[in-house]
Amino acid sequence: MVHGKSAETLLELRNISFSYRMRKGDRLLVFNDLSMVISYAEFIGIAGPSGCGKSTLLRIMAGLLKPDSGEVYFRGGPLNNPDPRISMVFQNPTLLPWYTVIKNVMLGLIHEKGLTDREKEERARAFLDMMGLIGFENAYPAELSGGMRQRVAIARALVSHPDLLLMDEPFSNLDQLTAITLRREIENLWLNQILPISSIVLVSHDIEELVEISDKIIVLTSRPSRVAGVINIDLKRPRSRRSQEFYEYVDDVYTLLS
Ligand SMILES: Nc1ncnc2c1ncn2[C@@H]1O[C@H](COP(=O)(O)OP(=O)(O)OP(=O)(O)O)[C@@H](O)[C@H]1O
Ligand SMILES: [Mg+2]
Repeated sequence: MVHGKSAETLLELRNISFSYRMRKGDRLLVFNDLSMVISYAEFIGIAGPSGCGKSTLLRIMAGLLKPDSGEVYFRGGPLNNPDPRISMVFQNPTLLPWYTVIKNVMLGLIHEKGLTDREKEERARAFLDMMGLIGFENAYPAELSGGMRQRVAIARALVSHPDLLLMDEPFSNLDQLTAITLRREIENLWLNQILPISSIVLVSHDIEELVEISDKIIVLTSRPSRVAGVINIDLKRPRSRRSQEFYEYVDDVYTLLS
């Protein structure tokens, strides 16, 4: 929680179950009666064993997948479809290769029927500026580094001023230095309330990354996945990885994971 704002619910999963339908009619049960709450102004980290359903969870939160049973509530109402107020960033930036950088970011404004092309372009430019990409507006994705492509994908996710940003291992395909820099930038933009988003959900395999950035870490079990535990990270920001307290939190997460 930031600034002691009251913990109003932004998104809630209530008793959801979800399975994938496999060939031959088999089902792969991913969630069985999973519940969780994301509050306004919260940075949530999600950790869990490989294959436990973290990406599936984000797709359900985004309204891209429907649970078999249970409900998803967003801003107090049922979420039945993708909502333009929820944006997602994937592990591999999903940019359209035949569009320039600025056109890719403008795709994030496709639902904004009230804006002229000129206004969309201005807004896209502002977010490219925020992500340090001014000068690359007319470049094509293939001309950019992996880190820059992910910056474009983040700009596209933010340009619509979503309430909720879902990030599925967004830094894990970047070299370490790029990953650290980009993560710090996102953290600072969010903490300084420069980003027009209320809450962020970050899925990561990197437990130290999660402890460094999250208000709260939700740890999932292996499939069918449940909440193994929720850890509130009560450390001042910016957080130093050198402190003993920091590693106590890291240990707490590992304990829940094992
Ligand atoms: N489209 C699909 N059809 C069938 N099974 C799927 C599909 N997508 C994922 N799965 C299976 O569902 C389970 C959960 O997958 P998911 O990708 O959500 O896990 P994850 O926690 O994100 O994994 P990772 O840590 O590897 O990213 C896995 O066993 C996976 O093989
Ligand atoms: Mg995944």
